[in-house]
Amino acid sequence: MTIEDCIKKLIKIDSLQIATVDKSGAPQIRVISARIFNNTTMYFLTAKRKSFVKEMENNRNIAIIGFDEKENDMVRITGIVEKVSEEEQLKWRNKIYETYPYLENVYPNETKNINVIYKIENYNMEYFTLSTHPITRQYFAIGNTKIKFKGFKIGDECINCGTCKTVCPQNVITEGTPFVIQQEHCLHCGNCFDNCPVNAIKEF
Ligand SMILES: Cc1cc2nc3c(=O)[nH]c(=O)nc-3n(C[C@H](O)[C@H](O)[C@H](O)COP(=O)(O)O)c2cc1C
Ligand code: SF4
Ligand code: SF4
Repeated sequence: MTIEDCIKKLIKIDSLQIATVDKSGAPQIRVISARIFNNTTMYFLTAKRKSFVKEMENNRNIAIIGFDEKENDMVRITGIVEKVSEEEQLKWRNKIYETYPYLENVYPNETKNINVIYKIENYNMEYFTLSTHPITRQYFAIGNTKIKFKGFKIGDECINCGTCKTVCPQNVITEGTPFVIQQEHCLHCGNCFDNCPVNAIKEF
């Protein structure tokens, strides 16, 4: 999958799930459908007084998932949300209404003035599927951000005993000095980590 393929998937899926963090630090999640992309930047519409907005104003960290039922795969975005500038609000609101004419029934006439547009421009994007064997995951850094590595890595303490390879449910550890985890096929289950006799596997 390329970045473009992932974005196409996020456009094709009817609705996305978007998670925020509330004032108490608890996660909140809701469905959104009114969103459009300009290259890799996602613009989405909500209403000014919703809890959704309060949460984004209080904590800019958000996560978005699009699950494609047909392909049994998903694209996840994690990053920092921004409110679109006052000068650009109307432009992006109009574009979103053009893409989703049903919104005219949700916010008829002047009631749409309660709408507000947010965007996510700089984010980590992850693609994950269970449809391949072994599984596939990919990471991308979009905009002004770096990929935050997650998972396990084998260090130079490795004594080449082969235990991790035998306990890996996806058989994605390659022999070598040290042994190497095929990151793009790793489940992050940690079974290798738990079974290494010399603690050569590091968790990130
Ligand atoms: C199919 C569907 C699409 C939705 N699309 C949006 C949307 O684009 N923007 C939005 O603010 N809420 C949308 N909602 C409503 C939100 O999911 C949520 O219920 C609402 O924002 C209230 O949540 P809150 O009280 O946590 O803010 C949609 C709901 C459904 C069921
Ligand atoms: S179990 Fe530990 S020491 Fe053995 S091959 Fe794997 S990483 Fe190396
Ligand atoms: S974390 Fe799980 S899937 Fe990944 S290499 Fe270790 S055992 Fe295999």
